Amino acid sequence: MKALVWCAPRKVAVEDVPDPAILNRRDAIVRVTSTAICGSDLHLVDGFIPFMKPGDIIGHESMGIVEEVGPDVDRSKVNVGDRVVVPFPIACGNCFFCRRGLWSCCDNTNPKAHMGDELFGQATAGIFGYSHLTGGFAGGQAEFVRVPLADVNCQKMPPDFTDEQLLFLSDIFPTGYMAVEHCNVQPDDTVAVWGCGPVGQFVIRSAFLLGAGRVIAIDDEKKVPERLQMARDGGALTIDMHDEYVYDRLLELTCGIGPDVCIDAVGMEAHGYTMLGSIYDKVKTNLFMETERPHALRQAITCCRKGGTVSIPGVYGGLSDKIPMGALMNKGLTIKTGQTHVHKYVPELLEHIRSGRVDPGFVVTHRLPLSEAPHAYEIFRDKKDGCIKVVLNPAS
Ligand SMILES: NC(=O)c1ccc[n+]([C@@H]2O[C@H](COP(=O)([O-])OP(=O)(O)OC[C@H]3O[C@@H](n4cnc5c(N)ncnc54)[C@H](O)[C@@H]3O)[C@@H](O)[C@H]2O)c1
Ligand SMILES: [Zn+2]
Ligand SMILES: [Zn+2]
Repeated sequence: MKALVWCAPRKVAVEDVPDPAILNRRDAIVRVTSTAICGSDLHLVDGFIPFMKPGDIIGHESMGIVEEVGPDVDRSKVNVGDRVVVPFPIACGNCFFCRRGLWSCCDNTNPKAHMGDELFGQATAGIFGYSHLTGGFAGGQAEFVRVPLADVNCQKMPPDFTDEQLLFLSDIFPTGYMAVEHCNVQPDDTVAVWGCGPVGQFVIRSAFLLGAGRVIAIDDEKKVPERLQMARDGGALTIDMHDEYVYDRLLELTCGIGPDVCIDAVGMEAHGYTMLGSIYDKVKTNLFMETERPHALRQAITCCRKGGTVSIPGVYGGLSDKIPMGALMNKGLTIKTGQTHVHKYVPELLEHIRSGRVDPGFVVTHRLPLSEAPHAYEIFRDKKDGCIKVVLNPAS
């Protein structure tokens, strides 16, 4: 089959690779009908996640049709011919963590757990196409994908919606939703979100679904005007980090107290225009003295009102420098974060799609065949051609 493989930092290619096969008795093979590129994939391509090997198939936002199931798959949950969305974390559904709804912390699905133990204290769940730190599982930017524990990790979908309406249940819709749901938003709350990428866009829609009074979205009008426009279309006020002082503007908009909820939907590759934001992190990451650039996170902590909540869906992988612990502690802030517990949110968010409250397809700007995936990575990474979200079709 054809699949998108990681070759080296900044280099991906579509190659012929062996078809996946049933390896364990509860596996399924899914023929991928749609698969998307995520900001998290950029961290792999940009070399920020060190546990990649040449030839790894990436991609963790996929859906398709079940082609084959192993002998022990519970066929009342998933069967050949079913249309399914595949959540990006791989979960067992039955461990201490899964039973508490912490699906991305599953204790049973990461066969390379020793690496996570060393880095994080305890390993987290396996993730499709997301390095050997999360199990080394082949990803879904391919014609077919093997789904372990298929009766837990294939979420059956109704026939009466398009792929683009359902695909983002695999990741970014639940990710935006969980980032807000974590913050116990009250009706007159102001939610500020850093980053108007696909995750930021779903933070904005979810904040309104969950009753926020106002959403303020921050990104770079010079680099990505189309993303700020999409944020405004979703009802947010916007701040241009290029031409405005984010802290000053946020305080001005909140009568001097700061937003109740501050959400970092940027993650480890933030850019900025201040000394700390632009020069310090770049120099330190280039010298391998820091593993990431937490500029948006620092700003979120500094801007948040006393007693407020900072929620971090943006991905971090290692050790960040100069986190303002003094502000965090003295202002009594709450921090919420995590890889998304996707399985927990699928039924609820499917209902929002069914009711028409959210049509997730709004975020798609590019639809391309899998064969053009390297080009798709380039325009998504470099924010060219108005690219906000790419959906790849392995069949076209
Ligand atoms: N927690 C999870 O389970 C989960 C799931 C999906 C994605 N993510 C993470 O969420 C983050 C966003 O994903 P995405 O797909 O939207 O990525 P993206 O790269 O498309 O978007 C990031 C946006 O942040 C903006 N940005 C950069 N620096 C900024 C700053 N200092 N202030 C404000 N905006 C800034 C960029 O211009 C860009 O528009 C990534 O870190 C990704 O890995 C996490
Ligand atoms: Zn993702
Ligand atoms: Zn589990």
